[in-house]
Amino acid sequence: MFLIYFWALLLIFLIILLIIKNIYRKFTIREIIGPIPKFPFGNTRKSALGEQNLIYDVDDIYCQFKEKSLVCGFFVFLRPYLLATNSEVIKEIIVKEFKKFRNNDFAVNLNKDPLIGRSPFRLKNETWKLKRSEIIPTMTQIKLKSIYPLIRNGTKNLVDYINREIINDECKVFDARNVSTRYTCDTITSSIFGIDAQSFEADDPFYFKMGEGLVNGVVNSVKSWLPFKRLPHDVESFFYDITMTAIKFRQENQIEREDFLSHLISLKNKINMSDVDIVGHCVTLFLDGFETTSLVIHHALYELGRHKEAQQKLREEIYSNDKELSYEKLLELPYLDQVFNETLRLHPPIPFTTRVYYYTSAESFIPERFNLENGGVKLFKERCVLIPFGDGPRQCLGMKFAYIQVKAAIAEIVRNFEVTVDKSTPANPKIGPKEYLNVTDHKLMLNFKRI
Ligand code: HEM
Repeated sequence: MFLIYFWALLLIFLIILLIIKNIYRKFTIREIIGPIPKFPFGNTRKSALGEQNLIYDVDDIYCQFKEKSLVCGFFVFLRPYLLATNSEVIKEIIVKEFKKFRNNDFAVNLNKDPLIGRSPFRLKNETWKLKRSEIIPTMTQIKLKSIYPLIRNGTKNLVDYINREIINDECKVFDARNVSTRYTCDTITSSIFGIDAQSFEADDPFYFKMGEGLVNGVVNSVKSWLPFKRLPHDVESFFYDITMTAIKFRQENQIEREDFLSHLISLKNKINMSDVDIVGHCVTLFLDGFETTSLVIHHALYELGRHKEAQQKLREEIYSNDKELSYEKLLELPYLDQVFNETLRLHPPIPFTTRVYYYTSAESFIPERFNLENGGVKLFKERCVLIPFGDGPRQCLGMKFAYIQVKAAIAEIVRNFEVTVDKSTPANPKIGPKEYLNVTDHKLMLNFKRI
C-alpha cells in the first residue's frame, strides 16, 4: 500500500514538474530571450519576498536585455510577461496594433465590486469602448474651462491652509503628500459633485478618509487575481449616497452647472443609465483626480525643493504673469510645463507604463531637457519615450484635467512659498516594496517658508 502511495505521489510530482517546465519554456520555444525563471517566483524573487518593489525587478531585467533585443520575456511566478525594450515596439503595441492589445490585465468581479469594476481602466472589449465613450464628453475644453474657477478656489484654500499652519513667518515642515491630497480631494469633490469637501478644515477630513478607502480597495484589487470584494461597504455607501443626494438636490432645485455631474445627469436622462452606472463613473473620476495627481504634485514640490535654481526660474516665470492666471495662460507657461513633464518622467504615478530609458542623465531632474531647441515635450511624446498617460486609444481620459489640477497647485505654491526638503527626508527615497502606485517608502517632508 505504501508503495502505491509513493509511486502515485511521485507521478503527480513529475506531472507538476513537467507542467511548470512547459510553462517556463513559453518564450524559449518562440526564440524570445529573457532571464532564466526559477520556480516558484519566476524572475521576480526580490519583490515576491518583499525586498523591493516589482518595478525594480523589472528594471533589472530591462537593463540586462535592452541592448540585446527589442523585447524579452520574463515570469512573475508562473505568469509570462513580454517586456518591450524599444520605443518603436511600444508604439506598435499601444498605438498601431492597438486592436490586438486593447485589454488591460486585471481581474475584477463586477457583481461583488460594481463601482470599481465599472472603470474603463478595468473593462474589456466592447464594454470598455462604451463606458469610455460615456465619460469622454466630461473632459472637453469647454467643460474644463468652466471647472477652472473651482480649481482656482482649491488653490486659494491650499495657500490659506499652509499660511494658517505657518506661525509667525517661520518655516514649517509638512508631509507633502498629505498637503497635496487635501488639495486634490477638495478640487475633485467640487469638480464632480459641486460639494465643498472641507479637506483643509479638520485633522482627519471625512472625504479624505473615504478617498483613501477607495484607493486602498482599488489597489488591492489590482494587486491580486483573486476576485473577492475589495471596496469596503462604508466607502461604497458613501459614494452612492453623495452621488444620489447631489443628483436629487439639483433636480429638485433645478440647478444647472457646467461640471462633471451635470454631464452624467443629462446622459442618464438620454440613455436611461442605471444609478450604479452613474455612481461608477463618479467613482472613476474621483479616484484618479484624488490620487494620481496628488502623487505628481508632491513629487514636483520635492524636486523643486531639491533644485533651488529650477524653483527660482519657475517663480520668475509665474511672477512675470498676471496674479490671476487664466485657464489659457496656465496651460501656456513653458517652464511650468517642463517641470510638470520632467516630474512625470522621473516619478510617473503609475510606474509600469513609463520606465523608458532613452535620456541622458536619466535619473536627474532637468526640466531644461524639454527646451524647444531640443524639440520640446511634443517630440519626446511622438517618439513614445514620454508616456506617463499612456498613448493610443486607451490613453488616460483625465489627462487634461490633470494638467490644470496639478499645474495650478504648483504655480500657487511656488508663487507664495519657498520650498526646501526637510532633513528628515532621506536622499533618493525608493518606491515602497508593496506599493502599486509611485508611493515612496519614506514620507517626503518639505519645509514651506512664506515669501
Ligand atoms: C497626472 C495624473 C495622471 C496620470 C499620470 C494618469 C495616467 C494614466 C495611465 C498611464 C493610464 C493607462 C493608459 C493606458 O492603458 O494606456 C490612465 C488611464 C485612465 N485615467 Fe489617468 N492619469 C492621471 C490622472 C487622471 C485623472 C485626473 C483622471 C480623471 C479624473 C483619469 C482618468 C483615467 C481613466 C478613466 C483611465 C482609463 C482609460 C481607459 O482604459 O480607457 N486619470 N491614466
